[in-house]
Amino acid sequence: MDKKNINIGVIGCGRVGSSFIKNFIYKRNIIKEKTGIEINISKVFDKDKEKLSKFEKLIAKSPEEIVLNENIDIVVELIGGIDDAYEFISKAIENKKSVVTANKALISKYGEEIFKKAREKKVYIGFEASVAGAIPIIKSLRESFIGNKITKIVGILNGTTNYILSEMYYKEISFEKALIEAKRLGYAEANPELDISGYDTAHKILILSYISFGHLFSIDKITVEGINNIEPIDINFANQLGYRIKLLGISRKEDNHIEIRVHPTLLPKSHILSLVEGVNNAVYVEGDLIGKSLFYGEGAGGDAAGSSVISDVVEISRKIISKNFIEENFIPKRVLNLKPFEEIETKYYFRFTAIDKPGVLAKISKILGDNNISILSVIQKQDNPKKAVPIIMLTHKAKEKNVIKAINLINKLDVIKNPTVIIRLEQELM
Ligand code: HSE
Repeated sequence: MDKKNINIGVIGCGRVGSSFIKNFIYKRNIIKEKTGIEINISKVFDKDKEKLSKFEKLIAKSPEEIVLNENIDIVVELIGGIDDAYEFISKAIENKKSVVTANKALISKYGEEIFKKAREKKVYIGFEASVAGAIPIIKSLRESFIGNKITKIVGILNGTTNYILSEMYYKEISFEKALIEAKRLGYAEANPELDISGYDTAHKILILSYISFGHLFSIDKITVEGINNIEPIDINFANQLGYRIKLLGISRKEDNHIEIRVHPTLLPKSHILSLVEGVNNAVYVEGDLIGKSLFYGEGAGGDAAGSSVISDVVEISRKIISKNFIEENFIPKRVLNLKPFEEIETKYYFRFTAIDKPGVLAKISKILGDNNISILSVIQKQDNPKKAVPIIMLTHKAKEKNVIKAINLINKLDVIKNPTVIIRLEQELM
């Protein structure tokens, strides 16, 4: 008899796991009506017994009871982190189970290996929820845009930091206060350091880059800066100059080079990515046929990510039911070089903390000029003779290596009282 039922096991009942289970049970009949397939959650595991307690009859005593279970077709891994998740996913594939995961840290590190094992065992891997929550960017890049040569991806890919930067801008509150609220709302990772340090964005841009360009770069090869050092004063000065500060993941292909970077960025207030507020994400994609395409939606939170998990579960269930293994749009392997970060060119925002006395600007400008950095504008709002004041400077496009060299020299001047704040500025990203 043809198989018409699919059984899934869920490992991890945190924010995404519990939203997924709740919503899936609630929508099961609608999904059956739409697809003709009955999909059941048959086992659930979490090492936190309290989280598990609400699932009564579904409780598995161990993750092995799911990954080794003959009756389970799809394992949904929602524990996050790398080591345990890698073990459970590997065992599940080994035992011929398809896997759905939201784990960007894992896919950005072991994606190639996991996809290879899955192809060998003729099972499927769904990872839509790993990038940009509810936005179907993985599906779009792999399927909808399959006929395109993708050249650029720019994204606001972390809801927590976008929420923090928006709160700091609108409510003029501190970074710490905004972070507490983001945690309370359930946007932050279990370890919010991953969000704040930019590493969550880095995992996501590495995955998008991989599926678009065919080379999975190691995270330690790319430059990642978070929002730890963004102070209200910078948000305020940027605002006065007509800019917002956003944490961007950027991946761009030029010939055989890929540029991948994650850092806070000044964007003109009128730029469409500046209008992405709160927990929302946006992903901008450029391709030869599509031209310019922009995706926007909720990037964090249990329901948003849970919606993508449901989508993967249903799609994989349909493939399993169809019996013939359908090779996924596999990612062509390409050998590409990473552009050294020192070679990137962009505009810059500098905040110097300098003594307010004659000749200081001349000294700073001389060093910048000697390093081929051309000044676009300068503002000094405070007047505090002989004391340290903030001086804000915007530059024309300059090379990163020249900027680093110049700022190191400037920081050594006796009139400079704190290390200079450097934020990159992008005017023409789209
Ligand atoms: N912590 C992540 C974010 C959640 O803030 O975007 C989804 O990856």
